[in-house]
Amino acid sequence: MRDRITPLLSEAQIRDRVQQLGAQLVKDYAGKDLVVVGLLNGVFPFFADLVRAMAMDFDISFMQVSSYGGGLESTGEVHILKDLDRSIQGRHALVVEDIVDTGLTLFKVSNLLKDREPLSLKICTLLDKPSRRKVAVPVDYVGFTIEDHFVVGYGLDLDGKLRNLPYVGIYHP
Ligand code: IMP
Ligand code: MG
Repeated sequence: MRDRITPLLSEAQIRDRVQQLGAQLVKDYAGKDLVVVGLLNGVFPFFADLVRAMAMDFDISFMQVSSYGGGLESTGEVHILKDLDRSIQGRHALVVEDIVDTGLTLFKVSNLLKDREPLSLKICTLLDKPSRRKVAVPVDYVGFTIEDHFVVGYGLDLDGKLRNLPYVGIYHP
């Protein structure tokens, strides 16, 4: 598997960008009642690094949805596998995701969370693949905008594997 990967973003590049994002978020959410929502599973390394780059107080909660039938393409069907364990009503919610591809997952998740009446709902993603978008989703914070490649590592998987790669690489099937 690993012999089919070429590096795209190094550990140092990721670390620097995550620090910048964290500092920006601290500025933007200063003094606000914030819940940072992580979308499992792919977000876990990014999430852990990002929240530790935010020197302020906030709540953390996780949500897991499934949108893939095990393949490489989003199907547009979203099922909640694990829901948040706290309310976002009347609070500021920031959804953190590993990658926005077609946008279908975040489109559905955003609508679902908006129904719970947060004061604001924003999206932060490590990676953005805008050329693949099928539905418009406002992405407020982007780590890196990338070309149309299938990427793995730093949380991103190929059939559940390669999430533990410490950098992001392009997978060549
Ligand atoms: P979307 O619904 O098409 O925007 O897909 C979002 C989800 O698809 C992400 O949370 C990832 O789990 C997965 N995904 C999209 N592109 C890639 C990729 O290049 N590598 C690994 N997973 C991906
Ligand atoms: Mg995923």
